[in-house]
Parts: sequence; C-alpha cells; structure tokens
Amino acid sequence: MPNIATTSRRRDDVLALPIRLDRAIRNQSQQVHSALRAGIVDGLLAPGLRLPSTRGLAEQLGVRRNAIVAAYEALLSDGLVEARHGAGTYVAAALPAPETAAPVAELDIRIPPRRPFALGFTLVDPALLKRLAAASRRRIAQAAPDELGYGDPRGSLHLRNEVAHYLAANRGVRCDPSCILIVSGTQHGLRLCIDALLAPGDAVWFEDPGYVASRHTLSTTVAKLVPVPVDGEGIVVTAGEKADARARAAYVTPSHQFPTGVPMSMARRIALLDWARSAGAYVFEDDYDSEYRFAGPPLTALAGIGGERVIYLGTFGKTLFAGLRLGYLVVPPELVARVVAARAAQDRFPPVFMQEALADLMADGVIAAHMRRMRPRYRQARDVVAEALVKHAKGSLQLSAPAQGLHLLATLPPGAPKGAARLIRERAGIECRLLSDARIVQRGPDGFILGYSGFAAKDLADAARRLGRAAQDVLRDSRPPRG
Ligand SMILES: Cc1ncc(COP(=O)(O)O)c(C=O)c1O
Repeated sequence: MPNIATTSRRRDDVLALPIRLDRAIRNQSQQVHSALRAGIVDGLLAPGLRLPSTRGLAEQLGVRRNAIVAAYEALLSDGLVEARHGAGTYVAAALPAPETAAPVAELDIRIPPRRPFALGFTLVDPALLKRLAAASRRRIAQAAPDELGYGDPRGSLHLRNEVAHYLAANRGVRCDPSCILIVSGTQHGLRLCIDALLAPGDAVWFEDPGYVASRHTLSTTVAKLVPVPVDGEGIVVTAGEKADARARAAYVTPSHQFPTGVPMSMARRIALLDWARSAGAYVFEDDYDSEYRFAGPPLTALAGIGGERVIYLGTFGKTLFAGLRLGYLVVPPELVARVVAARAAQDRFPPVFMQEALADLMADGVIAAHMRRMRPRYRQARDVVAEALVKHAKGSLQLSAPAQGLHLLATLPPGAPKGAARLIRERAGIECRLLSDARIVQRGPDGFILGYSGFAAKDLADAARRLGRAAQDVLRDSRPPRG
C-alpha cells in the first residue's frame, strides 16, 4: 500500500475542501478524520475526488501535517479513501452503502402535560432537591471501591433498613430488611413478583376498576386477568371466588382503592386473606399513597396482618416524585430466595448512589419532615377541588373527598349519556383519566379521576370550575326536551 506521506507534491494543493473541524475534539488527527469522514459519507466529497496533499491540507486547516497523515491513514482503513501510488489520495470510487436507519414508526406515547388533573405529579420543594443532590454528590465522591460493584441484588442495605423502620412505625408492617427489595417503582416490583411466583396462564384477580399501569403489567405477562368488582368495602371477595376461586394471586389497593378511594373493610381483608390461605394464592398489596392520610389514624397495611401470603409494594413516587423511580417490595421470608433469583436474572437495582442518598435523608428525618409539610398542602388541594366542583357542577357530579391520597373521583349521575365524560373533559380542557379507562368491564356511570397533588391551588380551582360547568352544560344539553 502506498505511503500517504509520499503523496504530498501535487499541483492541486490549493484545492480547499468544504469541511470544518470540530475543535471540541481534543486530538487534531481525530478532528481531521471526523471532518473528512463526514464530508465523504454525506456526499460533499464525491467518489474519485483527489484529496489535497498532506502538506496542503495541513496549511488549509492550520493543523500539523502529521495529523493529516494519521487522518488519511485512518480513512484508508475505513475504506473511504484509496491511495494511488505516486498519484495521491482519492475518495474511494466505491463507497460502502450509507447506513440508512429505518424510520421509527410513529409511537403511541403520550406523556401527560403537567396541568390539572394529571396523575403522577407531586409538589417538590427545591430545598429538598438540593439536599438530595448534595447527599448523592457526597455518596459518589466518598464511594469505597466495593460500593462500585454489583452488590446485593436486593439493593442498598442502608435504604432497606430505613424502609423497614418506616414501615414498622407507619404501616404496621414488621419485616426484616433481608426481606425487602429496592425496585424502580410499583410496576417493576410487580413484574418481579410475576416472574418469581406465577406461571404463564395463571389467573390473577384484579380490582375492577383498578390501576391501569398494573393491569398492563399483569395482562402482558399473565394469561388470565380476572376482573373482580369493587364496592364500598373494597374488592368483592365472593365475586372473585365465583369467577375463579383457584386464581393464583390477587392485586389490590386496600388502604385507598384506586381509583374509587374506598378503604378495604376489615371484614373484606379477613375474607381476602382467608381465600388466599385456602387457595394457596398470593396477595399483591399496592400501598401507593398511604403517606398522605388526612384524617384518622393510618390504616394498618394488609401485610401487617396477612403474614405469609402478602407481598407488599411501596413507592417513593408519591412521597417524593415519580421520576425518582424508587420503590420497594416486602416479601415473606420463605419467598425471598425466589424473588431474588428472579431479580438476578432480570436486572439489578436502581443506581446505588440515589438509594444511599435517599437513605441518608430518611435517616436525618428530612423525608419525614417533607411529608409533614406536604400533608396539609395536599389536603388543602383536595378541599379546593372538592369545593369548586360542588359549587360549579351543581349536582352534575358526585364526589367524596378521600381521607388520604393524591386524587379524587368525581362521577356522573346514573343515566348520564354514553360518551358524556369524554365530551365534558374536552369542553373543560382538563387533563385527566376517565373512570371508564380504569374499568375492564364497563358498568355504572363514568367519571373523572382527578389528580390534585402537583398543582397550585388557583389552577386547581380554575380547572375544577371549568369541569363543573362543562358537566352541567353537557348534561343539560343531553336531556330530552320536556313535553
Ligand atoms: C395505584 C397506584 N399504584 C402505584 C403507583 C406508583 O407507581 P410507581 O411506583 O411505578 O411510580 C401509582 C402512581 O400513580 C398508583 O396510582
């Protein structure tokens, strides 16, 4: 192969190439290589074009001649140029076919904008973010070498200890940190349970209406989702038994049923646990928003009374913010090995520094203080929405202010026409999920699942006013004329 450096004496040394160097690249030869490569691949430098001599191009670009020599050699190995003995360096006559990335089909991804009444937003105090940032910076800077490896598949022991304290003090769940796994949120935890404990084709009871994201997780992995209706006491266990008494698991939100807001009565809890014991089934308890209880003592979690059949799923998505992607699973001791094995096969755990930083903030009481500050603000947000709806809907919506959590449900009266909820939402220009979205079997009137936790009171009041008026208008217009 001819030596690039020998091709420097040529008459066309004055040819200026239409290329620009990216001075952000540290190495000069890489700057030249990258600019020429892009010029050739993009077709600016046509096949067969003779490139300037190394000296000429070095002068044009104001770089060392060695940098040009190295760049030409790299292009030779790329197959993008050819060196003709004694005649110089040419853009290759036959270039590799350009890589055309297949266009990605339009994806059906909708990220709800942050406006009332989208679910999944919270108020986040900038001071808290600063403390979290400082703690994670400190954790990264001070990491010991063995903290930089894979570590325990259950996640940070420090965070698991803090979660165990929190659960014992606030949720009546006594567990050893060895039974806790740190996960990237509820769906991830559920996915681990499915992998570890269920077989394809197993039936799972699912609250109807229920939490759509978990429904997707279950329905894409477990063959048979059994919708079980919910009444004023929570999931109707007898209906579940009637539909499929031999189901392998039940997914429930007992402290604050999503989306109806109903707490599961003690009688139902006992019935559900009795069924689980006799059927050898598991109960997946999604305890997603119990940090924010506005009235009365906190309800004990099912895992606090259900022992060996209950797998508890908790999240920091409501305590702090959803984008943190941190949650936890509490698994009965005899199931830990299976869930850990599933995890080791599936993934490890969310970044360890964020876990350690969060554990530091929990240990310092920062998270508990944040919850104490947020609780009255969320209660106020709930009241603002409820009052404005009562005032402006004038009976067109029925609602009950929940004793905890970050959303409320407003339903249309029985007999409201089909499609009315969608129309009202559109007229009101609000962002919210409909009750019918959360239903598997469509029965009863539709309604609005209104998230109130991430917004200013005046925006909530305004959105609630628009919703109330739109509900009134649409229902009035849909009434048959009298006489
Ligand atoms: C019923 C229910 N479970 C769990 C979650 C939390 O999910 P994640 O931990 O994935 O953020 C939410 C969030 O909106 C929810 O509504």
